[in-house]
Amino acid sequence: MMVKTITPDISQMVEAVRRKMSIVPRTAVVLGSGLGQFAESIKDAVRIPYSEIPGYPQIGVEGHAGELVAGKVEHEPVLLASGRFHLYEGYDVDTITLPVRLFDGLGIENLIITNAAGSANRDFPPGTLMASEGHLDCTFRESADMPKVERGSDYHSQELLKLAMEVAKSEEVILERGVYAWALGPSYETPAEVKMIQELGGDAVGMSTVPEIQLAGELGMSVLTISCLTNFAAGIIKQPLTHDEVMETADRISGDFSRLVRGIILGIGR
Ligand code: HPA
Repeated sequence: MMVKTITPDISQMVEAVRRKMSIVPRTAVVLGSGLGQFAESIKDAVRIPYSEIPGYPQIGVEGHAGELVAGKVEHEPVLLASGRFHLYEGYDVDTITLPVRLFDGLGIENLIITNAAGSANRDFPPGTLMASEGHLDCTFRESADMPKVERGSDYHSQELLKLAMEVAKSEEVILERGVYAWALGPSYETPAEVKMIQELGGDAVGMSTVPEIQLAGELGMSVLTISCLTNFAAGIIKQPLTHDEVMETADRISGDFSRLVRGIILGIGR
């Protein structure tokens, strides 16, 4: 497969976005598949389609809109990226992490990364929300060695995790804590891969997020990752999993998800 490399001028992108925004957000959210509805609740929203950002790649996956939304949750300014790029679409890591580099250029300090993921933990049924306290890179791109869980607080902010648990409690949303594993996709994993992920300590598996966590952590942002577990990962139950199930579950828990993310944004502002 040909790798689509984009060598963008980040400062030009930053300027283009800054010109369109009237707010100065400190917090940004990457919205995962099926979780884009959160953008509807933003006040004074300014929508910036990726097509209006010079050099920005365009989105190709169902359930991803492809725009930035700048606005407010109550009085708290926030910037959302609705729609992301995946390695399985043929982009390189620099391109899939462009939103994070753009956020950094815009002065974002707190990054909430969200995704839809499969559950590799029988105790976390579909519809569970999970905050990451660690991640695994199960793409085997650089080495055939077994990956180890990375729990560093540079990548998983302890303050944001604590805040997320408090908000979940007050909003009466069930929020588990666990380890997110990144698999390449685009096919869902095989039951054997899911078993390996369980043995390595993974609780959720998805096809994104880890490169964003890594870069944001290296850039010094405080990072919080929230997964919407939309299905049991392959092999955990007999029923085959489908993209429809993923979208349906994401839709079903979008209310809980929105209350949680909203509360966290407000908590950061306090
Ligand atoms: N595997 C990988 N990515 C996913 C899944 C899954 O089971 N569900 C939603 N995104």
